[in-house]
Amino acid sequence: MSKKVFIKTYGCQMNVYDSKRMADVLKPHGYEQSESAEDADLVILNTCHIREKAAEKVYSEIGRLRAEKETRATEGKNMYIAVAGCVAQAEGPEMMKRAPAIDMVLGPQTYHRLPDMLKSAEEQRTGGRLSARVLDTEFPVDTKFDYLPTDESAFEGTAAFLTIQEGCDKFCTFCVVPYTRGAEYSRPVKDIVDEARRLVARGVVEITLLGQNVNAFHGDDSNGGSATLGGLIAELDKIDGLGRIRYTTSHPRDMDQELVDAHRDIASCMPYLHLPVQSGSDRILDAMNRKHTRDEYFAIIDRLRAARPDLALSSDFIVGFPGETDQDFEDTLDLVRRVKYAQAYSFKYSPRPGTPASVSQEQVPEDVKSERLARLQALLNEHQLEFNEGSVGKEMDVLLERQGKRAGQLLGRSPYLQSVHVNVANADNALDATGDKPYTDYMGKLVRVRIVEAGPHSLKGELVRALN
Ligand code: 5AD
Ligand code: SF4
Repeated sequence: MSKKVFIKTYGCQMNVYDSKRMADVLKPHGYEQSESAEDADLVILNTCHIREKAAEKVYSEIGRLRAEKETRATEGKNMYIAVAGCVAQAEGPEMMKRAPAIDMVLGPQTYHRLPDMLKSAEEQRTGGRLSARVLDTEFPVDTKFDYLPTDESAFEGTAAFLTIQEGCDKFCTFCVVPYTRGAEYSRPVKDIVDEARRLVARGVVEITLLGQNVNAFHGDDSNGGSATLGGLIAELDKIDGLGRIRYTTSHPRDMDQELVDAHRDIASCMPYLHLPVQSGSDRILDAMNRKHTRDEYFAIIDRLRAARPDLALSSDFIVGFPGETDQDFEDTLDLVRRVKYAQAYSFKYSPRPGTPASVSQEQVPEDVKSERLARLQALLNEHQLEFNEGSVGKEMDVLLERQGKRAGQLLGRSPYLQSVHVNVANADNALDATGDKPYTDYMGKLVRVRIVEAGPHSLKGELVRALN
């Protein structure tokens, strides 16, 4: 009899990827994915530890699930609750103690052992013992990727993520990743290329290569050496049908020349780069242990723009890092004005237990953080709108991913990750402009689009012609 698993994903794209892999791992064991916890036999919370109060959110979710679990128990049925991801990694034993409703805690490196964990939890539960709880958050020497199934049969879509690298050795003083995801590890080139081929065979046109520090990639190549990210992109570019390659998240220090050149030489390498700077003040960059100055960051951007003049940039910012003065914050605004990001994410600093910055005596008051965040976001939004407005009148390639709200309209992404609503058809009969093809035939395709309108978060365009 088939069982159901509901996976709730918090946080980054890496977790989205991991949730898919957990579903793949469970499928041969009879688990179908469910849209809600209500009819699920197993609920997995795939957690994120970056944001403030992450653990508290997980506990309140578990509180809600516990009620459901107790109701089921009165009917003689089980519902298993598993906590996965970075909160599990960071606070596993404490979670087990605090929330008895949790059956399993698994860290990001142990997903492939999920079926075994589930089996031992099930066996012991049915044996009538209620202490059948499993904690598995170690960092195995062998890699989880070797054990994950290769059949992504559940996959549907045009744009996919592919994890190529995990962990981080940078130890920025605000960040939990080196503790929750462990040391930097790169997958072998062959495994990545094989996975990419399988995705393309299923209709994927765009792949985003994922890693916490993706451009530190140094996976084994087939000649006994190791490849850089630029080298890997060149390999992936050879795959017929793979139209677009992206990668995220990069560290400025690892932006080597081979990768810069890939933006110049490889057409499928998209002219868009998420390159977090966090702060525009040298003093704060140093306190953050970012390992680069603002001038070095500008120099990297100059090199990138020389290689690819139409490159658009995105970044992450933290305001109110311990010790940040008004002048430091002004330096951040100044950096933003100089770079002019197409898009950006900005956060108030939040102390993460176990990180060096969390014990600094120079914490910035909450109201100062809020005021700085509002000013920074106003500036970033202004630039984002300017960037979008600059697209009006231009033609660009759009990868159509899903249906829009209106008939005859499809929704896709520009090379710069802007959402584009594309009018493919005349809305009355929902056929394409030539009048004889259902407009949905364009789904999953790259098309040439003329941009006619821009807003802060999306563009509107008209179909010019199909490309593939
Ligand atoms: N406080 C605020 N923002 C943080 N980030 C990471 N750790 C913290 C923290 N302690 C932000 C950084 C990072 C993004 C993924 O999350 O900007 O680039
Ligand atoms: Fe965290 Fe990124 Fe710094 Fe690594 S480089 S410690 S993942 S912020």
